[in-house]
Amino acid sequence: MEASGVTLAVAGAGIRGATYARRALATAHRGEAAPGGAGGRSPSGSTERGGAAAGGVGGRPPSGRHSATVVAVAEPDPARRERFAAEHRIPPERVFADWRDLAAAGRLADGVIIATQDAEHAEPAIRFADLGYHILLEKPMATNEADAAAIVAAARRNGSTLAVCHVLRYTPYTAVIRELIAAGRIGTPISIQHLEPVGWWHHAHSYVRGNWRREDESGPMLMTKSCHDIDWIIHVMGEVPARVSSFGRLSHFRPENRPAGAADRCLDCKVEPACPYSAKRLYLSCLDDPDLRAWPLSVVTTDHTEAGVRTALREGPYGRCVYAGDNDVVDHQVVNMEFPSGATGAFTMTAFSPYVQRQTRIFGTAGFIEGDGARLTLRDFVTGEEEIFETADHHRSPDGRHDDADDALADAFIAAIATGDPSLLPSDAQESLAAHRVVWAAERARHSGTVVDIAKGTAQ
Ligand SMILES: NC(=O)c1ccc[n+]([C@@H]2O[C@H](COP(=O)([O-])OP(=O)(O)OC[C@H]3O[C@@H](n4cnc5c(N)ncnc54)[C@H](O)[C@@H]3O)[C@@H](O)[C@H]2O)c1
Repeated sequence: MEASGVTLAVAGAGIRGATYARRALATAHRGEAAPGGAGGRSPSGSTERGGAAAGGVGGRPPSGRHSATVVAVAEPDPARRERFAAEHRIPPERVFADWRDLAAAGRLADGVIIATQDAEHAEPAIRFADLGYHILLEKPMATNEADAAAIVAAARRNGSTLAVCHVLRYTPYTAVIRELIAAGRIGTPISIQHLEPVGWWHHAHSYVRGNWRREDESGPMLMTKSCHDIDWIIHVMGEVPARVSSFGRLSHFRPENRPAGAADRCLDCKVEPACPYSAKRLYLSCLDDPDLRAWPLSVVTTDHTEAGVRTALREGPYGRCVYAGDNDVVDHQVVNMEFPSGATGAFTMTAFSPYVQRQTRIFGTAGFIEGDGARLTLRDFVTGEEEIFETADHHRSPDGRHDDADDALADAFIAAIATGDPSLLPSDAQESLAAHRVVWAAERARHSGTVVDIAKGTAQ
């Protein structure tokens, strides 16, 4: 395809890389004339009773009018690589099997989307920054603090825009909450309570059987899943916590909880019908639903027939008993936070919930906000009245629960490159690094059983 507008390269054409790239393809097809907003959808939250309708994510102008083309890809999996190259009509000389080969070709595009797995973010991010690329980097930025800081330093010395994929910042829901707080509708926020209900089958899929099940291969659960939540709490409260404590462990998905008679694989298991975590039930039921075939089934197998799924469950990691795996990440964790202002935050992540959106309560001196990820209820302490804000275009989607936000993020990155204005992105590299540092501090607190003072870098 002939390049127009912003040009992009993709390192890692997996689930995430393909998602952002598809958005770029949509912008190219839409051309310059389309009105802004995420895919023609209004990014505004509608309100049932007036109030603070969002005028674009973070109140910023719509970014969707800029177009982009994916002109190069690096992906080792041949089937994914070929499919991606065909979808984006990338000529063979710009199709690579490794991000290192893409980098060795010099700068082929304005920006690069780095969507390799967690342990392979830092090296490509620094290399591509040194080549002068602007960078859209999947979270977590890196698997340790020094590497994350080195990425930010590389972006800064090269003048690269660096956007970390904290997609929750890009939802209309988030924009409305921030606008309500900024407008003083709840007075001064004094505390926040935030829940990430990961969902029982989602947890089993990604954090017991899947890519993020082991700390040594990716990172702790608080980083691989909930760096989003910590970043979001910071974004909403408007300050970075000064002190943190944390508790959490792997309580359930352990060999000692294996039911009597359970087999190593669900296909062979006599007690499978009564098990909430049956891989057979989960993945065979995905066959009937196009959304569930896209995710989680496509992670398990590309053969979407019953025989194909059964083969994957017999041979691959996703058919294993959840009590007989090599997983070690926590299945529940809490983090308590104290902000410099004295405000407090309490965060809970748990596997043992329905698969629903994050839920939040924000307690202010003059009002209270309660949200379920789509609907916000504001209670005014002066009038006693309740106001409802529907931000319904943000729904829990099966491919990661944030498809509108993924589009808005890709649009913002493209717009930041097209205009040369990084402020179109709602977080800069330093803010993302600060959020990651809170996660690492919370993990130190959990392991040491102490309160960690983030500013001083010490335990108390
Ligand atoms: N922002 C979010 O909400 C969100 C959601 C899910 C995952 N993620 C993160 O996105 C990243 C990718 O996750 P995913 O689910 O797309 O995983 P994935 O495994 O589907 O994709 C990663 C791709 O990188 C490719 N790859 C491996 N080595 C490579 C190399 N040397 N050069 C180029 N490509 C290489 C793999 O073959 C694979 O296709 C992870 O870091 C993950 O934590 C973010």
